[in-house]
This record gives sequence, C-alpha cells and structure tokens, in this order.
Amino acid sequence: MNNKLLMTVLALFCSISLGAQTEETQRIFVYSPGQGDGLHVAVQEGDLWKESGRLCSSDYGTWGAEKRMFHPSVCRANDGTWRLVFQVNDHSPQFAAAYSRDLVNWRPQDYPIMSTKQCLDPVVFENPDGTFDIYYKSPQGKRWTSATPNFRDFTPDQASQISDDAWIRDTATVNGKLYEGNSFEITAKEWAAIAQHFQKSGDDWRKSNERMHDDALPTSALSGFAAKSPLQVTLTVDLSKQKAISDKLIGIFFEDISYAADGGLYAELVQNRDFEYTPKDHRGWSATTAWHSSGKIEIATEHPLSKNNPHYALLVQDTLWNEGWDGIVVEKGKKYDFSMYVLAGGQKQDFIIQLVGQDGKVLASGKLKTAATDWQQFSTVLTAKASDPKARLAIVPQKVARVGIDMVSLFPQETFMNRKNGLRKDLAQVIADLKPKFVRFPGGCMSHGQGLENIYHWNETVGPLQDRKPDFNIWNYHQTRGLGFFEYFQFCEDIGAEPLPVLAAGVPCQNSNANAQGIGGQQGGIPMDDMPAYIQELLDLIDWANGDPATSKWAKMRADAGHPAPFNLKYIGIGNEDIISTVFEERYTMIARAIRAKYPDIKICGTVGPFHAPSADYLEGWEFTKRNPDLQYMVDEHYYESTGWFMHNRNYYDSYDRNSAKVYLGEWAASTNVKRPNVETALAEALYLTDIERNGDVVEMTSYAPMLSKDGHSNWNPDMIYFSNTDVRPTPAYHVQRLFSVYGGDTYVNSRLTIDDLQLGYRIGASVVKNSKTGKTYVKLVNALPCELKLTINGLDIPSTAKMVGFEGKPEDQQFDIKTGEAGSAITLPPYSFRVIEL
Ligand code: AHR
Repeated sequence: MNNKLLMTVLALFCSISLGAQTEETQRIFVYSPGQGDGLHVAVQEGDLWKESGRLCSSDYGTWGAEKRMFHPSVCRANDGTWRLVFQVNDHSPQFAAAYSRDLVNWRPQDYPIMSTKQCLDPVVFENPDGTFDIYYKSPQGKRWTSATPNFRDFTPDQASQISDDAWIRDTATVNGKLYEGNSFEITAKEWAAIAQHFQKSGDDWRKSNERMHDDALPTSALSGFAAKSPLQVTLTVDLSKQKAISDKLIGIFFEDISYAADGGLYAELVQNRDFEYTPKDHRGWSATTAWHSSGKIEIATEHPLSKNNPHYALLVQDTLWNEGWDGIVVEKGKKYDFSMYVLAGGQKQDFIIQLVGQDGKVLASGKLKTAATDWQQFSTVLTAKASDPKARLAIVPQKVARVGIDMVSLFPQETFMNRKNGLRKDLAQVIADLKPKFVRFPGGCMSHGQGLENIYHWNETVGPLQDRKPDFNIWNYHQTRGLGFFEYFQFCEDIGAEPLPVLAAGVPCQNSNANAQGIGGQQGGIPMDDMPAYIQELLDLIDWANGDPATSKWAKMRADAGHPAPFNLKYIGIGNEDIISTVFEERYTMIARAIRAKYPDIKICGTVGPFHAPSADYLEGWEFTKRNPDLQYMVDEHYYESTGWFMHNRNYYDSYDRNSAKVYLGEWAASTNVKRPNVETALAEALYLTDIERNGDVVEMTSYAPMLSKDGHSNWNPDMIYFSNTDVRPTPAYHVQRLFSVYGGDTYVNSRLTIDDLQLGYRIGASVVKNSKTGKTYVKLVNALPCELKLTINGLDIPSTAKMVGFEGKPEDQQFDIKTGEAGSAITLPPYSFRVIEL
C-alpha cells in the first residue's frame, strides 16, 4: 500500500508539472464544465485554453434527476489507455468508472457498488502492476478500492489513510472560466484523431438537420430544384446478380406504451377492473380510480380473490359506476359479456347491470343473480338497444347486503377472431393488414422495467386472469396483464407472425430510479444468488411455448389455457437496448449459455444498446457479440433519428460483417421537429428500407417503433398508428411499413438508380426483390426530391399494364391516399413520391 501511495502521488505531481507542449505533442485539459455537461476537452493554444468538445457524458440513473457528472478524475495508463471515474450524485453508494483507448470512444460506464452510502469525489491512479487505485470520500472518511487493469472488477472498499494531496487537480481557465481537471500531454497524432472526431460529429450534425420541408427555402441546397422538373433517372437492373435475403424483414414491435394494451388493443372495457390501481402506477391513483358511487367506495383486502389481486370492493346498496377508458363505446345491436367475481358469505344478492349513455338513458341492461359463499364468478350478456361512444357501466345492488366484488369485466363479444379475453377488432385488423412477419413483445423499456422489482416476468402474465400479477407500467400507468403471454402468442398465430418475446437480460432499464439502497440505473442487476431462478424462468418460457403437455407442467398450462399444440417459438430476445455494462455482460452470458445448452435451436437475439454507431453501447455491444459468437444469432439495434440522418446514412449496413451475427433493427423511426409521421418521414423511411432490402442478407428483421398511441395518453411521438376509442388512424409510417411488407421478397436483384447530378443520389432510392411464394418481382422507387423524375429502365421489362401502388404529397402532409393504377408506358415519379411496381 505504501509503495502504491507513493507512486500515485508521484504520478499526480508528474501530471501537474509536465512542461509546455512541443511541436510533436499537444497539451490537453479534461474537465467538466457543469454537472450535466459530461467530460470535455480543452486544448492549449499559446497561453490560452480553448474548449474543443465533449468526450462523454454520465449515463447513471434516471433522466432528469440523474445523468450528472461531478469531479471527473482521468488517468492515463502506461499502455496509453485512459480511465475515468466520477461522482454520480451525493447519495448513492456508487461512483462511475469508464475506460477508453483514445479518449473519444468510451466503454459503457460501470457503477461499482461500495459499502458506504456516499462515494464522493473519486480519484484514480494507476499502479505499477497495471491495476488502479480509486480513492473517494464518504461520511465514514476516506475510502480505497482497487480495480483490475480492464477496469471491470473492483475490490470491496476499505478505509484509507491517503494524503489529501491525492485530490489536488490541475486547473485551467477555459473560455474565461477557471476549472479543475486533469492535464495531459498527448501526441500530435492523437490530438489530430480527436480533432477529426469533433469535425466529423459537426458534419454529421449538420447533415442530420437537413429537412425536405426546408427544400424550398432560399438557403437550401435544393432551392429552385422544383423548377428543374423533370430530371432524368436511370434504373439499371442486373438480373444475373441476385442474393437471398430475409423473408422476415418487416414485423411489428408491440409495447404497452401510450395505452397500447390496457385501454387499447386489449378489448376489456372496464378500467381498474381488479381494484389494483395504486399511486405507484400514477400519482393520485388508488383502488377506486375510474370507479364512482354516490357514497364512499369501500375497499377491502381481508379475503382476497387471489394473492396477486389483494384488493376488492364492498358493495352495500349504492350503485357502483365504472367510467371505462375515457368512456365505454356502446354500439346498437352489439352484445357485451359482463362478468364479476362475488363474495357474499352465503347471502343472496341480485344486481342490475346497465350500460348508461351520456344523457342518462339505459342502453343495455341485464340481471345478475348471485349467491356465493366464497368467491364465485357470475356473468350475463348485455345487448345494446342504442349507441353511445361514451357510456358508463352501472352495477346496481337490488337490496341492502354487504357483498365483495372483484375482476369486474365487460368485453364486446366481437373481438379479433372472436377470441375470449380478446383484442379490439378494428385495431387488431389494421395491424394484421400490415402482414407482419413477426411480433416483438412485450417491450421495450417495459420488458426490462423500472428497477429490479419491475422486470417483466412472463410467468406472472399467464393463467387465470385473477391470478396474474398486475404491476405498474414504466410508462406511468397500470398493467393488468390481461393481455399476457398467452394472448400475445395467440395473436401471433392468428396473424401468421413469428413470436419474438423479449425479456430482461437480468438487468432493469439503465434509466431506472434508485432503489431503497440508493442504487440507481441497472441497480447492480439481479443478484447472482437469484440468477439461477431467473434463468430457469426463461427456460420455462420455451418449455411453455414448445413443450409437450404430457411431460411438461408448463406446456400443460398452455394446453389448459386452450392451446395444446406447441406455439413453435423460434426466437427469444434477451435484453432491451441495455447499457452494455459489466453487470449486463455477466448476466447476459449466463442466460444465453443456459438457453444454448438446453435449446440449441432457439435463435437468441442480443442487444447493442439504445443508439447507433458510434455510441458506447453499440461499439461495446458489437465487440461483445464478436467476442462471443455463440451467444447470439442476431442483435437488436435501436435508433430514432431525424429524416436528415436517414437520408445521409443510406450505406449504414453495406459494410457489416456477413459472417457475424444478423441484425434486428428492432426500434426505429424517422422524425422531424413536428414529431408526427408525414410524407417527409415516410419517404426517409422508404429510402432507408430500400437500403435495408439491399442488406437483407445481414439484416434479418426490422420493426418501426412505437406502434400504437391512444389519443390523450401518448408517452411518445411519432407513432405508427394513432387511435381513440372509436377510430384507428394509420399514419404515413404505417403505409410505408405495409407496402414494404406486402411487397417484400426473399431474393434481392442487383439494381442501381442513378441521376445525372450525382450529389442528389442520397434523395432517390430503388430496390428490386423477388418473392418465391407469390412468384412476383417487386420494384420499389423512392423520390425524396422536390422535382419530378423521369425513369429509364435498363435490364428489366415493365409492361405498361403492370400494377403500380404508391403515394405522393408535400413533405408536411400527414395524410395521403394510397393510389393504385398501372405503370403506364413512361414511368414518372412526382416530387416526394413512392411507388411499388408488381411484375
Ligand atoms: O419505443 C419506445 C421506447 O424506446 C422503448 O420502450 C425503448 O426500448 C426505447 O427507448
């Protein structure tokens, strides 16, 4: 220890006393200008320090309150690599630790958990053996921990006697303000690479800001192009060059966000049917939310219907009303299944069940005679005599008696495929019409959850409805789990899509709040002692989906629920855009190894974080994937980007390694500042999808996200389909997805769309695919330019009678008609248009 101390202090003073820069070197200063600003670098120019840019930011904890960096301490190791530690807040038993080879690309941060409640002002020094000492301050005094050279493992912390000098930092005045930080001398070559990185980031940022909507502005590079119509473009098709591509390129991602499930696709019309709402779901909510009565609504827990549903209501004589999900849509002539569980201790009680319109008129009525000693379910069918889009449900006791009720349910008899406990017909039909080849579910962030306690456990979502475990939704409402794994799998089967369940990789969302111990973000992951049980839970899912009911208790559960035949699960996703921390990698490895060992045919989909290249998680995620080729069949990439980004990154997958894991672009969408899908976003997506088809040998699947959003309950924009209780509104994004899905293929034919003005190439796109099932060839053409294009085709005959579908509009149009017609003898593409030709 003493030697180490000496070395560290010496190292510190060396760093401070380094002389002025030489011609071949550059002096830099790394520091944080403010807690929310991350780590920056300034460069010395003469006697002045000049800010150059941000190197990395804090990824700790939840958005808003966290993601702060205090007192960064940077150390350069003898091998030239870099280590960074910083304080994350003033209350957590964690500090942040990061590693970089070049100061520009940082490995995702780790947040080692220490024994003290606070880890203040950590500082890092390298030891002669390549390990690192980290000292920090806490209410218990100075503490010390040691890290392995790879900066992944940290020893338990202990008291330290190190001198206060260890905390002496360099200072520099950057842009007129004095900061503490660390100063280093690096080679001119190293500095050139950093400067080049900042230059490229700036260029990328400028390109990402390009908008079709701005094309007409005098400042736009495309200003005046509208007048140049028509421009000549040539599609050259080489039928001799073809390659197999994925036949599952277009699928859907279903997440219960923006009321997509409860109150949305799940057809249940009663809100808070289980009386399980709590303030954890949403501030101000309680067991009586969405219920009304002239008296006080009494809630009891003494004799629960199920341990997972402890609350129920006690009815004496007052009518109990349910407001539904912003009202209940009642349609004349339609039938509705009403049911509820009753606990009456042997008493008889009759109820009148009514649907009541906004004007107080009874739209439907039925009688429920009950006599129950223990919990018992009673049901009746209501037939509507009149319609009202905003009716209420009334439960009217017929005499004075004290009766418990729970799981109060009202379903339209007409659901998608008329399934019991089914899905809203109109909404499910629009989804089915997209002909998705797979469905990813149940999330998103909802899968890995807000903290360890909120991780989605699939086995809590199957079986009798009253035994399913409701939970709060990370999107700030409630999950009944009435739409659970059985219903998801059934829906997949009903629409001919492969199920792709995605479950947590043993870590919750990295943006989680702190737990009771003050540990935020991934919260250290599922404790190692609990990992075997969690892994078993994931193995049980495969058994439940594919097993034989005669030999497997899980498969028997599936059969008992009405599906004796296996669901034929082929894919499983592990993790959702997680930070690829050491905690993640350890747990992912354990899970994937166990699945591979027991179910070698199941294709595992890993994750590479929430953002595209060159984000830290993306880089580490792919490095991890390549280091462990047996642990994933494909990886899930996510990026929500501007239309400009998509137009300028058309070659994103061209250089991907064809011998590594496949890609699932699991969440993506183009957006503008309007945050609604329009012609501009649709065309950017269509351009990108022509490139995805070209790369369909490495990209196996894609899904736009999010899919659904209910009016008045949106957590996120843009979305693919907006809906209310009475209507379903597919957006331009939906139409693009549907056209690429319906007119998808399994063979890519080499083609090139060229334009005389080569600078404009990024605004046009084409792809030619063949579909072995339909025997057809589909040609897709995208024009994201403000002028008409006149097409010459070489290498492919397009009869004038060939079917042609597509759309066009102004960039800002949020609606358009899909036109169907014939190709005609001369194909022209109007400004801002998309066409598919069927051959
Ligand atoms: O699609 C909405 C959210 O975006 C998903 O839940 C999450 O995975 C991503 O951050």
